[in-house]
Amino acid sequence: MTGLQLRNVTKSFKEGDTTVDALKNVSLSVEAGDFIAIIGPSGSGKSTLLSIAGALLQPSKGEVSINGKNIEKMNEKELSSFRLTDIGFILQTSNLIPYLNVLDQLILVCKMKGKVTSKDIDLAKTLLKDLGLGEKLNKFPDELSGGERQRVAIARAFVNNSNIILADEPTASLDSNRAFEVVKQIRKEVKERNKAAVMVTHDERMLEFCDKVYRMADGVLTLEK
Ligand SMILES: Nc1ncnc2c1ncn2[C@@H]1O[C@H](COP(=O)(O)OP(=O)(O)OP(=O)(O)O)[C@@H](O)[C@H]1O
Ligand SMILES: [Mg+2]
Repeated sequence: MTGLQLRNVTKSFKEGDTTVDALKNVSLSVEAGDFIAIIGPSGSGKSTLLSIAGALLQPSKGEVSINGKNIEKMNEKELSSFRLTDIGFILQTSNLIPYLNVLDQLILVCKMKGKVTSKDIDLAKTLLKDLGLGEKLNKFPDELSGGERQRVAIARAFVNNSNIILADEPTASLDSNRAFEVVKQIRKEVKERNKAAVMVTHDERMLEFCDKVYRMADGVLTLEK
C-alpha cells in the first residue's frame, strides 16, 4: 500500500508550564497520484504536519501510516532508513551540504541508499537539467543564488524515487516563472510516476496545479476545495 494516512493526529509541544497544541485531531489521506496543497497563516501547524507526515516527528495522539507502515511502531534506526527510501523532502530552507557540488548533493542521496549506478547519475543529471541547472553541476552552494539552491533541493527530493514528496514552501525563494516551473515539475512527477505529494504554500497562484486544497487554522485542518 502506498500513500499517506493521518488519523486523528494531535501534536502537543511542552513550553515550560504551558502546552501548545500545534495539531488538533488532524486527519488526512493522500493517495498515489494525488498532489495536495496546504495553506494557512504562520504558526498554524503546517510544518508540524509535514514533519509528522515525513516521520521526522511522532504524533502525541493518533495514527500515521506511510506507505502502509505505522511510524509509531518504528525505532529511530528504522525511521532514518525509512525516511531515506520512502520520502522526498523539500524543506523551507534548502539545507544543502556546503562542501558538495550540485551533482554530488544528489549522488549522496543515492550513496546513502547503497551502490551508485550509472542510471542514478543519469537520473540526477536529467533532473538537474529539467530544473534549469544543467550548467551548474560542478558549482558549490555558495556559488548559487537562493533560487538555484532551492531547485537543487527539489532535484534532490526527486532523485531517490521515493513515492512520497513533502514540500514546505518550495517556491518561496523563486521568481514567478521559476515558481511555476517547479510546481509543474512536482505535478509531473506525481502524475507520471504515481507519487503522493503534499505542498505547503502561501502562493495562491500555485493552487491551480493541485488536486485538493486544505486550510490549516490554529492546528485544525479543513478541506477548502
Ligand atoms: N519544536 C517545537 N517546540 C515547541 N513549539 C513548537 C515546535 N515546533 C512548532 N512549534 C509551535 O507549533 C505551532 C505551529 O508551528 P509550525 O511551524 O507548524 O507553523 P507553520 O504553519 O509551519 O508556520 P509558518 O508558516 O510560519 O512556517 C507554533 O505555535 C509553533 O510555535
Ligand atoms: Mg512552516
